[in-house]
Amino acid sequence: MNIDELRNRIESEITSLKTFEDVKKVKASLLGRKGLFSEYLDGLKLLDRDEKKIFGKEINLLKMHAESRLKELESFYLEEEKRKKEALDKIDITMPGKIPLLGKKHPITQTLEEIIRIFTSLGFSVAEGPDIEQEYYNFEALNIPKDHPARDMQDTFYIKSDIVLRTHTSPVQIRTMESQLPPVKIIAPGSVYRCDNDISHTPMFHQVEGLMVDKRVRFSDLKGILSIFIREIFGENTPLRFRPSYFPFTEPSAEVDIGCVICEGDGCRVCKETGWLEILGSGMVHPQVLRIVGYDPEEVSGFAFGMGVERIAMLKFGIDDIRQFYYNDIRFLSQF
Ligand code: FA5
Ligand code: MG
Repeated sequence: MNIDELRNRIESEITSLKTFEDVKKVKASLLGRKGLFSEYLDGLKLLDRDEKKIFGKEINLLKMHAESRLKELESFYLEEEKRKKEALDKIDITMPGKIPLLGKKHPITQTLEEIIRIFTSLGFSVAEGPDIEQEYYNFEALNIPKDHPARDMQDTFYIKSDIVLRTHTSPVQIRTMESQLPPVKIIAPGSVYRCDNDISHTPMFHQVEGLMVDKRVRFSDLKGILSIFIREIFGENTPLRFRPSYFPFTEPSAEVDIGCVICEGDGCRVCKETGWLEILGSGMVHPQVLRIVGYDPEEVSGFAFGMGVERIAMLKFGIDDIRQFYYNDIRFLSQF
């Protein structure tokens, strides 16, 4: 009987173990009823008494040794499997998370809301009118009679012979004054439409109209309110200028330009090489307009303005092509 061979086989079987499953297999093949030890113990029968005693003792010592090693390994691998399973169930808080895609307000909506916030804080309330407008409100009531050359100032989309897509928010001035007595202090935000299309004009754009009518409203009030507004929205040191202009519904009239932020006044394609970008038209409400809505120009006076929201957004965000706002490119829109 070769005890060394038995010892070597036990040793090599045990050291090659790697998993809990291996332990179970080796345990059966060594210690099981048909296992290696049973084989050797059976073999003792063939020996004489003295040899039985010596070999029996050796085999039993080896068996005890193998049993205790296997028991240790069994609990080691059992523990390890449990740990692995727990690790799988655990949440790893250091893993990068899934970032939810949040929607955002369109930069024009953001700008509109900011304009509305500034004017409501100055005591203006918000009025509205229809996008599809009667020619009367869009033109006649604003002192622009048919065949007046001023109609060419705004290229108009006609729906029917006397119905237009409003070319400005000024008709809301008339609708508001028709429906209430002075004092009036409103802004009217909304979409307007013109047959226009280039880097600073789109066929649909937004305006915010302003109208204040009361006893003794003066041009200095207009200047004051607009200067406060421009400082609020563009910051303290924004260059601005009032430039004499003409509108049939205001007298005197002025347009307000902001120093071009794209080229910082050097001249570029956005400001048409002038260094200035026009953002609004304004003036003192024409006495004829006050008469049309039944107000007495001897009693009350007022100022009005109409600003281009896209122009303001371009200057605020440094956008050099107004059409970018309407391509619906998420890469562009998600920057704001
Ligand atoms: C008017 O529309 C007048 N109703 C403004 C007004 C109101 C004057 C009250 C006096 C009293 P104008 O056509 O200039 O004026 O347009 C006003 C502003 O809208 C412009 O200063 C410009 O900022 C913007 N704007 C005009 N056309 C476009 C366009 N196609 N795309 C984008 N913005 C435009
Ligand atoms: Mg203009």
